[in-house]
Amino acid sequence: MFRLFLLGLISCLRAESIFYDSYSGNVLTHENVKLYIKRNTTFWCINEIQPCKSLEGRRVDGSCNNPKYPSRGAPHTPTYRLLPAYYDKDFEPRKSKSGEPLPLSRSVRTNVLAEGRVPDLRFTQLLTHFWVYILGDIISVHDSVNYVLWTTHCCQEEGKKDKACTPNIIPDDDPVHRFSSIRCMNLTRPMSFQSQGCVRNDTIPERIMSETPALDLNHIYGASLEILNAKGRLFKNGLLKFEEENGKLWPPSMKTKETLCILNQPPHETRCHDTPNSGSNSILGSNLFSIWTWRLHNRIATTLLKLNPCWSDDRLFFTTRDIVIAINIQIIYYELMPALMGYENLVKEGVISTNKEFRDPYDKAFVPQTSLEFMYVQRWAHVIQEGRIKMYDENGYYLKEQRLVNMTLRTGYLVDNLEYITQGAFRQPAAKYDYIVDPDMAETIFGQMQVASDVFASDLTKGRYFGFAPYVEYRKLCSGKTYSTFKDLLDVIDPERIELLKEKYKHVEDIDLMTGIWLERPVKGGYLPVTAYCLMVEQLHRLMVSDRHWYERPNRPNAFTLEQLLEVRKASVAEILCAVGDTVTEIQPHAFYLPGKGNEIISCKKIQKISLWPWKDWKCNEK
Ligand SMILES: *[C@@H]1O[C@H](CO)[C@@H](O)[C@H](O)[C@H]1NC(C)=O
Ligand SMILES: *[C@@H]1O[C@H](CO)[C@@H](O)[C@H](O)[C@H]1NC(C)=O
Ligand SMILES: *[C@@H]1O[C@H](CO)[C@@H](O)[C@H](O)[C@H]1NC(C)=O
Ligand SMILES: *[C@@H]1O[C@H](CO)[C@@H](O)[C@H](O)[C@H]1NC(C)=O
Repeated sequence: MFRLFLLGLISCLRAESIFYDSYSGNVLTHENVKLYIKRNTTFWCINEIQPCKSLEGRRVDGSCNNPKYPSRGAPHTPTYRLLPAYYDKDFEPRKSKSGEPLPLSRSVRTNVLAEGRVPDLRFTQLLTHFWVYILGDIISVHDSVNYVLWTTHCCQEEGKKDKACTPNIIPDDDPVHRFSSIRCMNLTRPMSFQSQGCVRNDTIPERIMSETPALDLNHIYGASLEILNAKGRLFKNGLLKFEEENGKLWPPSMKTKETLCILNQPPHETRCHDTPNSGSNSILGSNLFSIWTWRLHNRIATTLLKLNPCWSDDRLFFTTRDIVIAINIQIIYYELMPALMGYENLVKEGVISTNKEFRDPYDKAFVPQTSLEFMYVQRWAHVIQEGRIKMYDENGYYLKEQRLVNMTLRTGYLVDNLEYITQGAFRQPAAKYDYIVDPDMAETIFGQMQVASDVFASDLTKGRYFGFAPYVEYRKLCSGKTYSTFKDLLDVIDPERIELLKEKYKHVEDIDLMTGIWLERPVKGGYLPVTAYCLMVEQLHRLMVSDRHWYERPNRPNAFTLEQLLEVRKASVAEILCAVGDTVTEIQPHAFYLPGKGNEIISCKKIQKISLWPWKDWKCNEK
């Protein structure tokens, strides 16, 4: 990728490209650029951007979304913080009020979250799969890749000297590992503008992200036009490259032996995708929706071509991309988030609209950016992740199960099992939101790649290295109230859980953001912990108002007509599975919810469908 960028850089030094410092957003002279080349920091620290044009649509690299700040919206641009950072000296994690280090993450986790398996009565696995998938659109996974594949010595002698390492220490009285000799779990510090050499390291660490801060399906189309062209487009009929294997359609596969799918079990399992983004070879939920969305693109492009035989490949491709992105946002805002956050709540907050017409939330005062807190609090979803994947046949008969953690970086497993996993996804419950977490999430998480790893303890540690303010500061931000004693927390946390907190934290201000969220009650009318809800609403609003290409707008470049928008509004996850899910011929209409009374499994013929007729171009008939 780096080489590709350098080539681009050199060719474009001659052309009309403008170079921006990725952190500050300032324009760089050619002299400046040479300095970055010398320091080998161009990949992370420079955005190369073509001049913005007022009538162009959404760019693959997200630039020019806000013409006043052309580089904002592109990858490697800064996030923002809802509350100022809290660090100790040298940007080490803050200390507790008494001056002691905060309690070990692992010991906090084992004290407040028990291990076990309790199924939810409401949501399906499909909900958690979709949730992790959409997060991949705006969150980089490089921090996980870092300690699993790049910086692997964090628990060894070498790791003690490496500033990048922040392993989780396991106490001797650990409920699981007192029976083993494991005393350390690998983990690395979040990568930042500072660690990548873009900004002086005596400044507050700011996380660096490889995705664009907009809901624009980076994990399908990538975040760079060159890479999309090289790895994604077929350059024929608006299609993405595709392959057939075992009677199913797949994204193109990697031809080299060295792949990211390190858990594939050779010789039988070989499939590993070669797409513009690694989201199609990561965790199961992301892999599933990447495959389905990939197929959805080609299905829509093919229908558009039938309707409009005079359209060029380019026009077919980018119109299809627009539609697929809009369908995805429609499902996030009108199906997923209402399930998690409460429909009435989101209406009240102005995040969703009650009528189907256009609306224009755009406000050019906002630049496309994500808050560090938004990305972080969604890690709460690990609590409702069920660790066993149950597989069913197309008639709903149970076949077998496999551990979720054993399917990470193992795309090849899907070749024989995709249809059974698909059928299971809308039949199997998610895990319940109940302070009890799946043992595989709590002790394994990375299949055979790590002997032991606790995703919750890692989440807690990461929060400390992100430098988040104490939990009570976020409570104050959300409720306006001041929390000075443990008792004050009774408005959001049950008394017995406050007792658990007291066992680990001496002062109420010591409580970590994530620990507080784990123990909260859900928001009224919704399902998320109150503080997670509050920090997410802010971002859902920002994603919408800062996006000039937001699909509900009537007056953006390439805007939908009202008839087109009304079709996009019919999108549902059930419809997507009917269209591109293997062997799905029947499904419940609200597939994030378990099938049952009022949500019975019915024929796909009865599921509302999007018609592409409003995209019919009558000019094709004139020719
Ligand atoms: C330059 O930076 C890239 C990307 O960070 C890295 O992969 C490469 O090894 C570096 N090259 C040198 C010579 O340091
Ligand atoms: C900043 O970088 C210098 C030189 O590489 C190093 O000695 C120092 O420890 C770093 N400081 C921080 C806060 O990372
Ligand atoms: C993961 O799957 C492989 C292949 O099916 C199997 O050999 C292995 O035992 C599994 N590992 C775990 C930890 O379940
Ligand atoms: C940490 O990483 C090293 C090197 O990859 C590995 O040998 C070790 O088993 C890992 N530790 C745990 C607890 O998984």
